[in-house]
Amino acid sequence: MDIPTRVETTPAQIQEAAAILRRGGVVAFPTETVYGLGADARQETAVRRVFAIKGRPADHPLIVHLASAEGLRDWAQAVPEAAWVLAERFWPGPLTLVLPRAAHVLDAVTGGQTSVALRVPAHPLALALIRAAGPLVAPSANRFGRLSPTCAEHVKAELGKALDLILDGGPCRIGVESTILSLLDDTPRILRPGVITPEAIETVLGRPVAMHGSRVRAPGTLSAHYAPRTPLVLLLAQEVPQQTAEWVAQGWRVAVLGCGEPAGRWPAGVQRLALPDRPAEYACGLYASLRALDAAGVDLILVEEPPLDPAWLAVQDRLRRAAATFSKKGSS
Ligand code: TXA
Ligand code: MG
Repeated sequence: MDIPTRVETTPAQIQEAAAILRRGGVVAFPTETVYGLGADARQETAVRRVFAIKGRPADHPLIVHLASAEGLRDWAQAVPEAAWVLAERFWPGPLTLVLPRAAHVLDAVTGGQTSVALRVPAHPLALALIRAAGPLVAPSANRFGRLSPTCAEHVKAELGKALDLILDGGPCRIGVESTILSLLDDTPRILRPGVITPEAIETVLGRPVAMHGSRVRAPGTLSAHYAPRTPLVLLLAQEVPQQTAEWVAQGWRVAVLGCGEPAGRWPAGVQRLALPDRPAEYACGLYASLRALDAAGVDLILVEEPPLDPAWLAVQDRLRRAAATFSKKGSS
């Protein structure tokens, strides 16, 4: 079966997608970060279908996508002042807030936790769809543990047959998933870094923000996550030419993901794909590049490590998780 996609989405097509969602269907749609796998957040069967399509364990919670910050009143049991302040500054946008859940929120959505993750995405198609269909759960539209999709073709290739519709909004502007911030404790805590940095949040709130280390489950914080199928090794840029030569000499087919201009000389026949050495542009191309290298039929992807600078936090986080798969295999 060929799955329909909608490239230039008209109001009538949004209505069609909303009707599918109201009937309990699953519709992939673009957000500014990555593509999401949308289902009506109030229909248990639809939410369970999303877990089944992703192959995601049922106790890993989903983000509820709202049309505006007003939705906080319906979905969170108590809304701290910090949530309103952050929503005012960053929504619509790539920030997810974890708050105590309202009583009606399905266990299927929260994985049985007493909290719920909420965000208002900054993509006109996503907002139009949520306005028409109501709040949507939307995990990244990939199989569990794999790379998030940043264009409709990625979704179609990986999950197309299982979906009722894919709305095509072109490539995602940001390219890595939203920053997740827990407001459950006195100190706000980043559970997943994204393009909205801890510093930006601290500036808006006027108080410190903690990183990770939460007691709350967040599958995005598993080490092996956001991974290509091909083993991936993260190396200092200056180590890459020699390492490449050594692997190639041992008969491995190697591809390199560079950051900026190449340092040193390249062994013949090694594919080197480079992303800009600017964090926003790098993030935007990261998943598409890893997918391309995954499809290139190599045995190993060597990645030149980007700068260890706070502006690179989200990119560093995703690269480390992608590399974790290989070190595990390599050490066992
Ligand atoms: O940018 C994004 O956030 C994308 C787009 C589609 O909006 N969505 C996304 O969803 O990345 P997903 O399901 O791939 O990742 C959601 C993350 C998971 O790591 C999950 O554990 C965490 O959000 N999460 C959801 N509810 C939570 C909760 N109540 N407490 C802590 N973490 C939660
Ligand atoms: Mg995901």
